[in-house]
Amino acid sequence: MKIAFIIGTRPEIIKMAPLLDEIEKRDIEHILIHTGQHYDQEMSEQFFDDLKLSQPDYNIGVGSGSHGKQTAVMMEEIEKILVDEAPDIVLVEGDTNAVLAGSIAASKLHIPLGHVEAGLRSYDKTMPEEINRVVADVCTKLFFVPTEESALNLIFEGLNPHDIFITGNTIVDACIRNLKIAEESSQITSKLNLNGEVLILTLHRAENVDNATRLQNIAEAILELDELHIIFPVHPRTVKNLKKFGLYQALEEAKHIQMIKPVGYLDFLILLSRSKLVMTDSGGIQEESITLNLPCITLRYNTERPETVTAGGNVLVGTEKEVITETIGKILSDSDVYQKMKEANNPYGDGKAAEKIINAIIKVYYDNKLEITPPEDILSYEGHYLQKVDEKITVAEFERKNKYLRVRTVFDKGEALFPHSSLQLKDKNIIIDRFSLQR
Ligand code: UD1
Ligand code: UDP
Repeated sequence: MKIAFIIGTRPEIIKMAPLLDEIEKRDIEHILIHTGQHYDQEMSEQFFDDLKLSQPDYNIGVGSGSHGKQTAVMMEEIEKILVDEAPDIVLVEGDTNAVLAGSIAASKLHIPLGHVEAGLRSYDKTMPEEINRVVADVCTKLFFVPTEESALNLIFEGLNPHDIFITGNTIVDACIRNLKIAEESSQITSKLNLNGEVLILTLHRAENVDNATRLQNIAEAILELDELHIIFPVHPRTVKNLKKFGLYQALEEAKHIQMIKPVGYLDFLILLSRSKLVMTDSGGIQEESITLNLPCITLRYNTERPETVTAGGNVLVGTEKEVITETIGKILSDSDVYQKMKEANNPYGDGKAAEKIINAIIKVYYDNKLEITPPEDILSYEGHYLQKVDEKITVAEFERKNKYLRVRTVFDKGEALFPHSSLQLKDKNIIIDRFSLQR
């Protein structure tokens, strides 16, 4: 079996690393395609060094550009590589333009696509990432979703539950593994002269940093939080826009704000672990903070990681100055609130996501169910039906007994559940998809 990995940006390198480690451990043939969307040393190469990854087999070198141009160049180049390499499966991770390009290129070639971190939804179509996620999931053959909530998002979009694997998120694998290494090797605390508590800030989401009003509100909020020592590793997009909107200098001159270049993963994990609180609009950092028991303030109006909010470890504050400063003041002045946020349960698994994903791929491959083949039976789809189950029967037993029925969703006292094969159906309501064979 041959796996093609596609990555393009900082978080994809970090979240794919545990999978690359896992397949190297098992000696599975693979190629790594870097689109080159992130190209600065501190946005790309630094992570290869920190995570001890082999250099990519291909680097498309797409660089920065408009979404259309960037995606088109990546699609064209990825297509050529996939035709030459003929992998058995292509893996993409998350929601960047590399995921969009890779998903379309692979699915049009009928190469099965595995989407790592599938099923996330912010339901905000102004976010480029939301479009990328939805399109990727239309093209996907195997969905590796972090939580039951993300699995249900796909179920309600009509996707086949048998193609969905709830694995946790590989960020937990990356966090656990690398924090230990970082504790031994990172010099960041002495390099930055840190002795007391700090607050980490990251910011790069297009809807925040490309919008002058929002960026100004956030800048004013952090200027006002002058009792805190704020460490701000600044994303290149944010540097560009802070300068463009005339906000950079005031932040740079503020004594309580330490603006630094983006740091490597090991240094960043140490900064997070020394931090009292994190303020961010990053997706990955919302996940890492709940993994590391660090309260998170998310500078957004919605999140595709609602599990972190429900668990109590993350608060959405939007971008209004008063809401940001008041929320931070309240969390830091009320030890009960702070403690509750710290103790929120991590919804993203036990750090074995990479192992589960590779196990699932291998099983599907050796069961001969990976290939995308044209249908041979004339199956007609008869619709969705609601049914109350009276007998003692699991999802798998029900489907074995009723060959042309598929359990889509199970409702237990009004709550939707993912139809795990071992789930007991007695006294539950189920939605089924009904098919019939025409010949
Ligand atoms: C991209 C992803 C976003 C992800 C983020 C991770 C898309 C649509 N966006 O956003 O989902 O959360 O990566 O960090 O795929 N730049 C540099 N050097 C670099 C890379 C970028 O200077 O190495 C600057 C360029 O001016 C570029 C800007 O940053 O125009 C934005 O880069 P881009 O890759 O388009 O989007 P990100 O904001 O990084
Ligand atoms: N990160 C890092 N150095 C930094 C800032 C972030 O290593 O200076 C890591 C962080 O730990 C997380 C990932 O980058 O794993 C998140 O990337 P980003 O916020 O750019 O993208 P998103 O997750 O929002 O797509």
